[in-house]
Amino acid sequence: MYEVTVPEDEICQKMETHQTANFVKISSKENPTKFCILPKKFVDKDLERIKNMEVYEDDIWVITYPKCGTTWTQEMVWMIGHNLDYETALRIPLDDRFPFLELGGIVTDLPTETFEASINQPRPRYIKSHLPIFLLPDQLWTVKPKIIYTARNPKDTAISWYHHHTNLHGYTGSKADFIEAFAKDLVPYSPMNEHVIDFWNIRSQPNILFLFFEDMKRNLDQEVKKVVKFMEKDYVQDEIDKLCVHLSFDSIKNNRMINKEEIIKQVMEMTGREYNPEKYTFIRKGKVGGYKKELTKEQNEMMDEYIKKAEFEIEYQF
Ligand code: A3P
Repeated sequence: MYEVTVPEDEICQKMETHQTANFVKISSKENPTKFCILPKKFVDKDLERIKNMEVYEDDIWVITYPKCGTTWTQEMVWMIGHNLDYETALRIPLDDRFPFLELGGIVTDLPTETFEASINQPRPRYIKSHLPIFLLPDQLWTVKPKIIYTARNPKDTAISWYHHHTNLHGYTGSKADFIEAFAKDLVPYSPMNEHVIDFWNIRSQPNILFLFFEDMKRNLDQEVKKVVKFMEKDYVQDEIDKLCVHLSFDSIKNNRMINKEEIIKQVMEMTGREYNPEKYTFIRKGKVGGYKKELTKEQNEMMDEYIKKAEFEIEYQF
């Protein structure tokens, strides 16, 4: 069903860090144009069991390419699905309320069993994944639970992924190398274009809600209402207003149940690095167009070419 090869381009190996090792290219044998770059551990540990896992109709899935606003979307979806239960949301970390399915199959140094945590949740289960369609459970497409997919413009996504790699995973390569690898589809979870296109193409199915990070920035109230409707809930404007405050950048940045401060501290401690929130926080800048200050002219053009290659009608907001 799958072919697993080691990408020849050495830039891919440069992505390897203390947290993620042995990157391979997992290709679909049925459709070799479908592939994904992930650590070999994922193939050994999670690939088959995720593909074959049981999916329930009342599951709620948040699926994204990394750095497209997953955490933000998860908190929004969890709150809306749980009758705005602030008491629980402010007591239990989001990662426990809404586990990241394949995390344990990806990182090398965190003692996480996220697959088990995901499947053994009481129903309705809330599951986060960054996997592309061809690696997700087969039953997703027959059982058809609700799936919320969030996309973001690839330039801001690539920059955010670069900072994540540098500050969290311990990537020591240059930004130039990272951007080049992104544009060559050689960073973890690449290719982004196909990830987004595959969900864009099924966005009109009734169990799919396709959102954009930039719309959430521009008009959170409107996007929250889309999710409320999609999840068949009903809230009054005062409740929506309060939720928008809870989901604002400053609120999420300072919310220790969401901002992953504890995980970052743990990773820093394990890898002998200093935790410095002045330098990096997971909820980092949260801007649209932040890449403008970060990409050189050449890198910007490289990303333009990358986006053009996708040939789909999405008009990203930059
Ligand atoms: P930046 O690195 O550009 O700041 P993910 O959860 O998929 O890893 O995405 C992380 C990105 O979402 C980060 O982007 C983070 O700052 C941004 N983000 C998270 N919550 C946000 C919010 N409430 N408003 C704006 N951006 C937010």
